[in-house]
Amino acid sequence: MSVRYIESKKTFLLQTKNSTYQMKVSDYGYLLHLYYGERLIDEDLSYLIQLKDRGFSPNPNEAGHDRTFSLDFLPQEFSSDGSCDYRLSSIEVKNGDGSYAFVGKVAKHEIYAGKYSLAGLPSLWATEKDQVDTLEIWLKDSTTQLTVVLCYSVFEEKDIITRAVKVRNDSGDTIYLNRIMSMTMDFMDSDYDFIHFDGRHTMEREWSRNPLAYGIQNVGSFRGASSHQHNPFTILCERGASEDDGRCYGFSFVYSGNFMCKVEKDQYDQARIVMGIHPKHFSYQLKPGERFTAPEVVLAYSGEGLTHLTHLYHRVYRENLCKSPYVKKERPILINSWEAAYFDFDEAKLLKIAKEAVDMGVELFVLDDGWFGNRNDDNAALGDWDVNTAKLPSGLQGLSENIHAMGLQFGLWIEPEMVSENSALYRKHPDWCLQMPRRQPSRGRYQLVLDLSREDVRDYLVTSINAVLDSTRIEYVKWDMNRFITDAWSAIAEKEKQGEIYHRYILGLYDIMNRIILTHPKILFCGCSGGGGRFDPGMLYYQPQIWCSDNTDAVCRLRIQYGTAFVYPVFAMESHVSVCPNHQTGRTVPLATRGVTAMGGILGYELDSTKLSEEEKRICREQVAAYKRDYPLIAYGDYYRLTNPYTFSEYVAWEHVSPDQKEALISLVLTEKEANDAQRFIKAKGLNPRTQYRVEGMKGSLSGQALMSAGLPVPGNLLQYEAVQYHIKAL
Ligand code: DGJ
Repeated sequence: MSVRYIESKKTFLLQTKNSTYQMKVSDYGYLLHLYYGERLIDEDLSYLIQLKDRGFSPNPNEAGHDRTFSLDFLPQEFSSDGSCDYRLSSIEVKNGDGSYAFVGKVAKHEIYAGKYSLAGLPSLWATEKDQVDTLEIWLKDSTTQLTVVLCYSVFEEKDIITRAVKVRNDSGDTIYLNRIMSMTMDFMDSDYDFIHFDGRHTMEREWSRNPLAYGIQNVGSFRGASSHQHNPFTILCERGASEDDGRCYGFSFVYSGNFMCKVEKDQYDQARIVMGIHPKHFSYQLKPGERFTAPEVVLAYSGEGLTHLTHLYHRVYRENLCKSPYVKKERPILINSWEAAYFDFDEAKLLKIAKEAVDMGVELFVLDDGWFGNRNDDNAALGDWDVNTAKLPSGLQGLSENIHAMGLQFGLWIEPEMVSENSALYRKHPDWCLQMPRRQPSRGRYQLVLDLSREDVRDYLVTSINAVLDSTRIEYVKWDMNRFITDAWSAIAEKEKQGEIYHRYILGLYDIMNRIILTHPKILFCGCSGGGGRFDPGMLYYQPQIWCSDNTDAVCRLRIQYGTAFVYPVFAMESHVSVCPNHQTGRTVPLATRGVTAMGGILGYELDSTKLSEEEKRICREQVAAYKRDYPLIAYGDYYRLTNPYTFSEYVAWEHVSPDQKEALISLVLTEKEANDAQRFIKAKGLNPRTQYRVEGMKGSLSGQALMSAGLPVPGNLLQYEAVQYHIKAL
């Protein structure tokens, strides 16, 4: 078993192939954190707990005259708020008597084979082959009878540990949970860098790395979605850690709503990191006997640098997260109507785009926004999921049949979570949107957010969206969400439960996704929120690919995809070739380069194919053929970052290597050209040093050792924004 309790030492031991996690029940019943890191055989690391009488660090009452035991500095697994610990807390609870304390002591534990489950929430699942074991530790406050159950599942072979928290109100009082972190992790040192992924609409998941400083660093979202601004994935790594070396810890939150990740460097040079639902405006009422389940955090430890950390996440998210059968299927090459036509289309125009796309090698035509109600711009019709017959006289059915007759599949855009004020739905049910009493709701893109905490709203959406999906042959759906939440107040929730609305919205979203997406396994679903405003593992549980960004500029995309692929598998990043000058940046980049960048994810097109020249269509055909040939390598191979665009500006390079190391593809885009520049060599990674490889276009062969140590020349004649790819095959 990968989980054990060593009774004589009172230690809990979690072992993965390459990591060890250890906790200890202390003298007074508190659960202390001992260690997470490189795998150790030792069953007892209790010596790491060094007690000391420290001024102004209070001692729990039961410690009597012992002034050396203080939760102010001891490493804990779940901090007991209101009991001598002044650092970031794991919980804030308002008890029935108005007090705010939770003092949790180990009451019992359970160890069992298999993975825990989290009601209503997406989480990793285990196959029999994974041999996952679970530990649940019950921390009970003997005064209030509130119990917090800490859940740990160990994916031994995959070097992954998942954590979640469940709260049980076994008291006779109604309590309010104002903060509940899914994970708290203490480190007895703090010489770490904090890596996080920040951004904005059209420039998501920008890599950021800073050393821990005294005080608190904070990332998170209070936008009702995981957001473009911060991603719910962070890393703590040794100061010197590189791609190939150093201790690195990953924290990935399987949740699509408000989140918070904070890291604190304390007075004794220790570090604490917490991750969970954002506590702002969160207050969850628990009546006697009621329970709360906090979402999952997926932990990974790599002692071999950041690349290995990425590989651990890619593997587990590829094999144990997404429910869609498309995870294992080749994705069709699509063309999307958005940047081709925006709202300005009719059936004839769409069919012309589709017809030319066939000539490019495209396999799927996607009709984006604007096909329903009176949706001629983005001010109207969200909520009215009936086809606009003025634009599409033969309806979705006729359009779909015509598209299929060309040999293409048919895909459709929807945005179920929203309502326009100018819509039949809003006129009929004005109280169905989130809005506060006596205030006019804020608009975003001139639309309001439907109250998914309500069952009647959810039922309406499930019925109306399923009716569309079942009305004709649809093989692909883009599920969009184009504004963040404000006015989080529900017309039917009691006053005391309004602090639950942000979370209940997300639970409602997962509910409708269960009833729309999981009931249509044959449809390939793509997530979207104005591009990558909700690129998180919660969404990936339902949708195997997500529109990475509304920015289709091939150069900006290099950075966006660099950050995204730090944790999310390559096959999750939908990436399109669009026209130049680019609609977002005005930049012009060769079509070949746009193809190379888009091939760094799931390749597609987003342009008016009727405006392409014969030569451009030929290039697209070649791109499609190359992508289809390399798809297994790109989608399922090991992904390596060869450069960091934030520290090196000349070019961006990355590599995909087949699991058997027999094939590799290096892609490189020149981002900053200087005249008469230095000769550069790009060094491969992940090859077998002793294998001889042939590099397409080069004479003879080279050893893996030479390719990785000496490298391949970057062509000197490459101009600004040009790209090159190296196909490497074992002899
Ligand atoms: C935002 C998406 O990211 C775009 O690709 C497009 O679908 C628009 N919404 C449509 O409104």
